[in-house]
Amino acid sequence: MEAPARSGTAIRDREAEKRRKAVKHVKLGDLEVSRIGLGAMGMSTAYAGAGTDEAESIRAIHRALELGVTFLDTAEVYGPYTNEELVGRALRGRREGVVLATKFGFISHTGRPSGQLDSSPAGIRTAVEGSLKRLGTDHIDLYYQHRVDPLVPIEDTTGALAELITQGKIRHIGLSEAGPETIRRAHAVHPVTAVQSEYSLWTRDPEARVLPLLRELNIGFVPYSPLGHGFLTGTIRSTDDFDATDWRKNNPRFTGENFQRNLRIADEVQAIADQARATPAQIALAWLLTRGENIAPIPGTKRVARVEENTAADTIDLTPEQLERLDHLTPASGETHDEAAMNQLER
Ligand SMILES: NC(=O)c1ccc[n+]([C@@H]2O[C@H](COP(=O)([O-])OP(=O)(O)OC[C@H]3O[C@@H](n4cnc5c(N)ncnc54)[C@H](OP(=O)(O)O)[C@@H]3O)[C@@H](O)[C@H]2O)c1
Repeated sequence: MEAPARSGTAIRDREAEKRRKAVKHVKLGDLEVSRIGLGAMGMSTAYAGAGTDEAESIRAIHRALELGVTFLDTAEVYGPYTNEELVGRALRGRREGVVLATKFGFISHTGRPSGQLDSSPAGIRTAVEGSLKRLGTDHIDLYYQHRVDPLVPIEDTTGALAELITQGKIRHIGLSEAGPETIRRAHAVHPVTAVQSEYSLWTRDPEARVLPLLRELNIGFVPYSPLGHGFLTGTIRSTDDFDATDWRKNNPRFTGENFQRNLRIADEVQAIADQARATPAQIALAWLLTRGENIAPIPGTKRVARVEENTAADTIDLTPEQLERLDHLTPASGETHDEAAMNQLER
């Protein structure tokens, strides 16, 4: 007779497998991920309430895994460091089957002044050791350069990353907010698996040049801030609730007249959500999923209920008429970042 503990494990494995199949998967290059991921940044930094409830953040990660979300996103600079530590704690004993993505390049490990990007090979070799340790893992599945470093040729950065693949420390290479020329040059040194850039109903920049190139090169795309930093969910009607540490407090889209004008966009998304019997967050994600085959957005939340809500966007089919309306929302007022941060984006 089979030992009860063993059959219990077998049942759990079968259940986990069933749930994994519930969320659809896509390929980023040759890396398979759930097509809705989970961004962990806001659990530790950037938005109101970050870092205030670690237990709920960990429950949110566990719930995502239970629902079949396999794709988790963090970065060395979130915190800094504390977000990777949190994700590492959440994944203790649950690492298998997870596609763990993190990023380097905002923090210098070679003595560059604070605030200066650093994608030098020496910097990367130090950064990866720290990330592995904080994440409590022996490999990172997808390791992104967080921003293109103007002082280091992308060939040198990609070469260093290719060495980390050979050493088994990372499995795949990613770029974030890189422009077409950089993507091509990096890809010529070693296949790039995914590019992660801001993309959502109110930030459509990648459509003109980046998305066509990624299709051509078979590189996956990971839209970050797919809910427009929360704005597209319709829950932000005033900026008074943002405390001084909230990144949105000084963001051009969330301030002054721009914010007032942008409320119209949230209303338009809400109207379509009402018609589709979904939430605005789900509509924003479902729309992204129609934008290509190899797209996996990473909505960020630190709450279990919102993980459930966002993951369910995978099941929503938008009608052609709804897609048409979403395609022609009122254009956003204001840049996506302040001037200094805009200068770090390749467009
Ligand atoms: N590569 C890069 O440079 C870069 C830059 C930014 C972000 N990212 C990555 O992308 C991930 C997602 O982006 P993001 O967090 O900036 O923005 P987002 O996913 O567009 O929005 C996150 C915000 O929306 C709220 N939210 C989430 N689900 C909601 C729902 N169903 N209803 C109402 N509000 C909801 C969250 O609040 P609660 O947490 O309170 O639910 C949070 O304030 C990040 O976690 C990070 O991993 C990468």
